[in-house]
Amino acid sequence: MFGRRGAEPARQAPGEALRLENVRRVYGAEGNRVVALDGVSLSLPTGSFTAVMGPSGSGKSTLLQCAAGLDRPTEGRVFVDGAELTGDGEAALTRFRRERIGFVFQQFNLLPTLSVLQNTVLPLKLAGRKVDRDRARAVLDRVGLGDRLGHLPAELSGGQQQRVAIARALVTEPRVLFADEPTGALDTRSARDVLGLLRESVRAFGQTVVMVTHDPVAASFADSVLYLADGRIVGYQAAPTAETVAERMTRLADEVERQRTMAEA
Ligand SMILES: Nc1ncnc2c1ncn2[C@@H]1O[C@H](COP(=O)(O)OP(=O)(O)O)[C@@H](O)[C@H]1O
Ligand SMILES: [Mg+2]
Repeated sequence: MFGRRGAEPARQAPGEALRLENVRRVYGAEGNRVVALDGVSLSLPTGSFTAVMGPSGSGKSTLLQCAAGLDRPTEGRVFVDGAELTGDGEAALTRFRRERIGFVFQQFNLLPTLSVLQNTVLPLKLAGRKVDRDRARAVLDRVGLGDRLGHLPAELSGGQQQRVAIARALVTEPRVLFADEPTGALDTRSARDVLGLLRESVRAFGQTVVMVTHDPVAASFADSVLYLADGRIVGYQAAPTAETVAERMTRLADEVERQRTMAEA
């Protein structure tokens, strides 16, 4: 933790981009309560690329939404880059999200009447920041759409639309970029383009990325995988490959099935 004393400067431990402490999220009222997250704690370093996997209904989206300030945990705390996201009022949370968080959705969520460039600068406008069109153009160049600035979303392929959504998420230089099944609506080739882009933003710019996916190939683009089941973290894997992730997911699904059968017996 602490640097050695002496002539040699202390080597900085890599910063912590995201921290969750015992996060619980319970939906519904008494009688039909669903525990979507059941005490999740984690710490992700700056510049890491993490995939979140788990069976359907295991709490992946809830985890992402709570970590990104789109939803509020019932209990527990969330820190982004050392600043606490939980505990603030609604206005502060919205500001926090706009300034420090990027989010990419499965269905792109671009505004259909705005051009590629207008969609990309929108978060800067919403945050009341200077609309730096040169920066937006540079980000769009990075995602390979520098020649499509005036196009409308409907004039682009799904893969291109998702790359605009990534440019829009990156334009504010967020501390963490969250993506919930970003390749879920894409063909294999576009999916690879999008994953390569996320990978590259980590490698070249030290971006921190957290991505939910159910695709072992997509997960293999990440540095590590967190496995969720029934709202809890049940596993961690470094240096994932598509094969080892697929194997682990099969075992996890069997395990969850077995426990559910036992619970019902
Ligand atoms: N808004 C909501 N109201 C009630 N239950 C919800 C809500 N959102 C999610 N859930 C429940 O919480 C659990 C986790 O959901 P979710 O995080 O969407 O899982 P995943 O993304 O892994 O499929 C599920 O049982 C789901 O039905
Ligand atoms: Mg989900």
